[in-house]
Amino acid sequence: MEFKKSGPLKGEITVPGDKSISHRAVMFGSLAKGTTEITGFLQGADCLSTISCFERMGVALENRGDIVLVHGNGLHGLKKPETILDCGNSGTTRLISGILSAQNFDVTLTGDASIQKRPMKRIMEPLSLMGADIVSVNGNGCAPLAIHGKALHGIHYTSKVASAQVKSSILLAGLYAEGPTSVTEPYVSRNHSEIMLNLFGAHVTTTNTTATIEPASELYSRKINVPGDISSAAYFIAAGLMVPGSEILIKNVGINPTRDGILHVCRAMGADLTLLNVKEDEGEPVADILVRASSLHAAEIGGSIIPTLIDELPMIAALACFAQGTTVIRDAAELKVKESNRIAVMVENLSAMGADVTETEDGMIIH
Ligand code: S3P
Repeated sequence: MEFKKSGPLKGEITVPGDKSISHRAVMFGSLAKGTTEITGFLQGADCLSTISCFERMGVALENRGDIVLVHGNGLHGLKKPETILDCGNSGTTRLISGILSAQNFDVTLTGDASIQKRPMKRIMEPLSLMGADIVSVNGNGCAPLAIHGKALHGIHYTSKVASAQVKSSILLAGLYAEGPTSVTEPYVSRNHSEIMLNLFGAHVTTTNTTATIEPASELYSRKINVPGDISSAAYFIAAGLMVPGSEILIKNVGINPTRDGILHVCRAMGADLTLLNVKEDEGEPVADILVRASSLHAAEIGGSIIPTLIDELPMIAALACFAQGTTVIRDAAELKVKESNRIAVMVENLSAMGADVTETEDGMIIH
């Protein structure tokens, strides 16, 4: 691949639909009564893996491109799949382990080579405390997971990591459990599950860093408009900021406060970002983001902001190479357990391009 230095970037774009919200719309739509219509669905391989898992459990889905119709089976209507369920490369699809733990059938959940290396004990442990029978087939705490559906009971779980995947798996199991289920995280992770479950008729509350779900008797279908993914917008934000003379308008981007850390960090670095047409679409805040080229300075990034920009940190690391001063990213060890070790990959590749970047235990230092 050859890159050429670019002139000013000018124009208006929309970015693909939010991955996290697309996954959840299919999951909750499958468990709901009635037909859920999803617009702006992200047609990426990960979200298609989630569709495929629910199709294998007897849910009728019509994928018409930008619109997906999910003809839900109701909360207790999933069927035993005839094959194993394959998440492919999709980390988020794994949160269905919470749903599977409570079904009246056995199932094996797996994924590609990368998924089979990612830690699942963080999900298996709380689900087991709820009464689930969930075993790592190779005994290494990773997928494939053999799940024997059981009756579950609610727990209050304190998670060591701020992870929406861990939190959501537990909350989904809590839909089926006897009594309320709570998850306390060190910092608040993305809350799309909480917002959307409430739209579908579940009862989820949040106090500080604790989310609590009541058992549900049924979920009800909804129309879901998936906003643009701020993780995809991140690349255009960076390009617009870096290339002198640029001005880009990114339309209809999700700016949920549990996802908007990139906007805060860019502004702290001196970025000229303006939010236009800010509104709320069924609980999810959205806006158009106007990006103007800016001269950037370094930032210190750590603590509670990390879960709100966990997927944008690689892009922020690239941006930091163009900022005056030394940027420090800390408290981001979670980057090591993504589809790749994102710290190692960014340090290796930015260094190969001549950047001055040092890997640390839980982040990077970028000069
Ligand atoms: C996601 C949560 C994040 C994120 C992933 C999607 C989700 O993972 O990195 O791309 O949709 O819940 P963790 O919650 O494990 O950090």
